[in-house]
Amino acid sequence: MEKGEELYSGKAKSVFLTVDPEVLIMEFRDDTSAFDGEKVDQLDRKGMVNNRFNAFIMEHLAGKGVVTHFEKLCSANESQVKRLDMIPVECVVRNIATGSLCRRLGVEDGLDLQPPTFEFFLKNDELHDPMINEYHIASFGWATPDEVEIMKRQTFRVNEILGALFSAGGMILVDFKLEFGRFGDALLLGDEFTPDGCRLWDRDTRKKLDKDRFRQGLGGVVEAYEEVALRLGVDLDSSVSP
Ligand code: TMP
Ligand code: ASP
Repeated sequence: MEKGEELYSGKAKSVFLTVDPEVLIMEFRDDTSAFDGEKVDQLDRKGMVNNRFNAFIMEHLAGKGVVTHFEKLCSANESQVKRLDMIPVECVVRNIATGSLCRRLGVEDGLDLQPPTFEFFLKNDELHDPMINEYHIASFGWATPDEVEIMKRQTFRVNEILGALFSAGGMILVDFKLEFGRFGDALLLGDEFTPDGCRLWDRDTRKKLDKDRFRQGLGGVVEAYEEVALRLGVDLDSSVSP
């Protein structure tokens, strides 16, 4: 489908209208950012790798019954998606304590979380995505109680499905962030699932294979994303063909 006017440009993706009001084109750029846009860079191949990675994950989830906005790959760095009315809330599940959880609660980095824990954050860069709870979501009308239940259930379901997928590739899914949006009466998984929005560690060495490499200046960012893709069998080399 032809790309129309740009609807929105985020820190790493741009979204375009199409002739169909219910369909958007999502472009994964080579831009990367961390700390709510404070640290930015351009990384060769990143847009292409994340686009294909996201398509692979979204199709895997759809195969397991998780309804997503993803429709198809359009080009090396673009995908066609359903237009959702996004809920301005980020859903995070953590299997191992690291990142902001350790800073906030002073718990040991690397601690196994049994059961996995769940957090909501408000999607707002200026406020640095503050942590919120279900009462905030209700009082400010960001989502209904039913939608909150669906988001929690689906995020834990994604944790089970992708935990198993990454485990088969010798990796630990440490934590991740999902976003959901409304499509008619349904609540669908939106946005993306890539190493930009999750933490993945090598099971044996605990080497970081995700955006923490960029956040912490460890280098080899796209190389790590490509290693994850290779381990999962994501096709990064085909000549597009959606
Ligand atoms: P955190 O430890 O910084 O709170 O991050 C938890 C997980 O959520 C981690 O996998 C990164 C992801 N995340 C995003 O994708 N975008 C964000 O804006 C934030 C704050 C976290
Ligand atoms: N996604 C946010 C940003 O790009 C936060 C982060 O990943 O550190 O700034």
